[in-house]
Amino acid sequence: MVKKARVAHVLIFPYPAQGHINPMIQFGKRLTAANRVKATLATTIFISKSMHLNESTGSVQIDTISDGYDESGYAGAESTKAYLSSFQSAGSRTLAHLIQRHSSSNHPIDCVVYDAVVPWILDVAKDHGLAGAAFFTQPCAVSNIAYYVYRGLLPLPVSSNLVSVPGLPFLEVGDLPSFISKPDVYPAYLEATLHKFSNLDKADFVLINTVYELEEKAVDAISTQWQILPIGPSIPSFYLDNRVKKDKAYGLSLFNSDYKTVTNWLEDKPPNSVVYVSFGSVANLGQEQMKELARGLKASNCYFLWVIRASEQALLLKHTIAETGKKGMIVEWCAQLEVLASEAVGCFLTHCGWNSTLEALCLGVPIVAMPQWADQTTNAKLVQDVWKAGLRVTSEEKGIVRGREIAGCIREVMHGAKAEEMKANAMRLSRLVRAAVSEGGTSAKNIDKFVSILEEQS
Ligand code: UDX
Repeated sequence: MVKKARVAHVLIFPYPAQGHINPMIQFGKRLTAANRVKATLATTIFISKSMHLNESTGSVQIDTISDGYDESGYAGAESTKAYLSSFQSAGSRTLAHLIQRHSSSNHPIDCVVYDAVVPWILDVAKDHGLAGAAFFTQPCAVSNIAYYVYRGLLPLPVSSNLVSVPGLPFLEVGDLPSFISKPDVYPAYLEATLHKFSNLDKADFVLINTVYELEEKAVDAISTQWQILPIGPSIPSFYLDNRVKKDKAYGLSLFNSDYKTVTNWLEDKPPNSVVYVSFGSVANLGQEQMKELARGLKASNCYFLWVIRASEQALLLKHTIAETGKKGMIVEWCAQLEVLASEAVGCFLTHCGWNSTLEALCLGVPIVAMPQWADQTTNAKLVQDVWKAGLRVTSEEKGIVRGREIAGCIREVMHGAKAEEMKANAMRLSRLVRAAVSEGGTSAKNIDKFVSILEEQS
């Protein structure tokens, strides 16, 4: 057999935000695991400067492009529209330079795995004669809804109370992604959400960070349009297979954390006694909601570990801290996967970002869902009504969720017969998603298929 001159080189390009970088960098690590592929992650100059050095990207190299905001990132733009426009113009130009630079090296790029919300990356890849793989960082259900809107089958604003989308249960308007249920509030994000389908026919692969068995009907429904490859959950291998002792973190954290303090605090707590509370890397709760949350945590009478990012801590007035009592710990950021893997954690009060949702399912942790925006509302619907692994809180006037409602949901997920049922469902899902990435599992086979085609073509 003739030995191949080189392995295929994949450039992975996520939207520059933690919730998009995590699953895509992890996918890169999985590709490089068997030394069959070389992977480089492209990110913005600003993000590369914000990376915390206690993390390691392992076998995945980092290379940079510019979004036009090298000193400030997104925060420096005057609007979302201005940022996305600059990201596209400066990004396309500097991505073209990056591809050209690599083409004169020993390892030219063969394929660009791009974040589906940034479709211009595919255009640049195709201009350079490269293969392109769209990577959807959100569940298939969310793509099916967006595609339905894109095709004009669900006109906006939504006028009926119950919406029917192929492969999904009936949805109330509040279950739809917020860009779709509130088109006037987030016009730039709505445009980006729909625009990802504009050139998808040109993509050579459509990868999605989900598990076939979790979303069978949704995947089957959209597979009539594209050949979808579910490859999830894209999570560090340590949490999927306890025999792998390395790769415990995604590897590119934009926030600093005192991991040890959290681990020590969790260590002496009884099993299933702690509520872990986090709203991810983007959501801003506002002062009134923070106060109600503090009240709810105190009233639940459970231990709690609450992540409040540094930028949000100013909102946490002294009286709010007093509200939480002495049973809690507040940190700016933590090693979320390690926390969810701790036996002390009994439930996850989360905004239901897709990574957090998948991480909880992987580790068999039931959820109290408090979605804020984007895909989180749909993810919460799946958690409560399809997978039955948690409860969604109900909000009152102006969208505020009161403390008594939060405390009630925590109690229901932590104690009693219904809690046991949700825990059993979460554990069943955990076994199911681990099986998908194990040898012979649906996601493992799809990753192998992707790599094999790349190998043939490179
Ligand atoms: C964003 C969107 O808001 C979300 O709706 C979409 O599904 C993905 O992109 P984000 O809000 O940050 O993501 O939430 P999520 O998807 O849950 O990602 C957060 C990531 O940060 C997770 O991988 C989580 O493990 C990590 N994290 C969070 C930490 O490592 N430490 C923390 O303290 C909190």
